Amino acid sequence: QKKMILDLDTGIDDALALAYAIADPAVDLIGIISSYGNTLVETAGKNSLKLLELLGQTDVPVFLGESHSSTTDHFDVMEISQLIHGKNGIGEVELPTANRALETQSGVDFLIEAAHKYQDDLILIPTGPMTNLDAAIAKDPSIAELIGNITFMGGALTVPGNVTPFTEANINQDAEAADRVFRSPAKMTMIGLDVTLRTLLTKNETNQWRQLDTKAGKAFADIVDFYIDAYYNLDIDKNGCALHDPLAVGVAINPAFVTTLALNMKVTHDGADYGRTIGDTDRLHDKRINMQAAVGVDDVAYLAYFMQLLTDLFKK
Ligand code: BDR
Ligand code: CA
Repeated sequence: QKKMILDLDTGIDDALALAYAIADPAVDLIGIISSYGNTLVETAGKNSLKLLELLGQTDVPVFLGESHSSTTDHFDVMEISQLIHGKNGIGEVELPTANRALETQSGVDFLIEAAHKYQDDLILIPTGPMTNLDAAIAKDPSIAELIGNITFMGGALTVPGNVTPFTEANINQDAEAADRVFRSPAKMTMIGLDVTLRTLLTKNETNQWRQLDTKAGKAFADIVDFYIDAYYNLDIDKNGCALHDPLAVGVAINPAFVTTLALNMKVTHDGADYGRTIGDTDRLHDKRINMQAAVGVDDVAYLAYFMQLLTDLFKK
């Protein structure tokens, strides 16, 4: 089993990443850090607690992360995020309030502590902005090299972004933070829009969950149907919703789901192409390459495994 920390702006596809991490027997989920983006950082933390309770996982600790980007002092949820994820981040589905609170230790300190404790055995999965990871590296630069792998959802190598033609939402929230992390010695795998937009979940799948007739099956079907409807209404995809965040969890455990390109990368954070994830010409000749950027995905194999894991989990 791999020790895993999820860094989530919970979020509908973040909720699926959480479920996937719990369902996969190869994962030991040691904690969740909350982030901002799809929703406010406090709401993201509370959503994670509620989802854990729904899934009967009341011993996974949830820590509060940074509430805004490294260059601002405030964050407001974008209107488009509310349309895609609902005003509460989880498709307007009202889950009961969890019976426990967020941990008192900060998410940043938890990450630093875990990096020293587990080192190469630790996998970090950021599925929101890089602000928490950047803050942790700023506080203790040694952790960049200690963490076994950072498999994140964000960026776009070969397709336009989803916020501007150049930038993807997670990177756009804090491009400066992402740029510092990209240029750090951290070993990373980028799961960008290039590949996640090719992994589609449809109502055929959510209907299978609803038919399980369990609390978790019904709640996840309702939450994800909101997301599928938003994709349809906003003309993002007429057939289903993209499995952005859970693909990062899947690849962290089974790298063969994707093909990757090894290259050093940076993030533009000034000018018209703000937030663009692109090759770093300054490190063109470096022998050490710290990024594997996904370029292809076996979406059929991934979806089959995703459905097997989540359907079994929701049956319980
Ligand atoms: C990413 O942005 C968020 O809306 C999703 O949860 C995902 O992490 C996709 O660009
Ligand atoms: Ca997310």
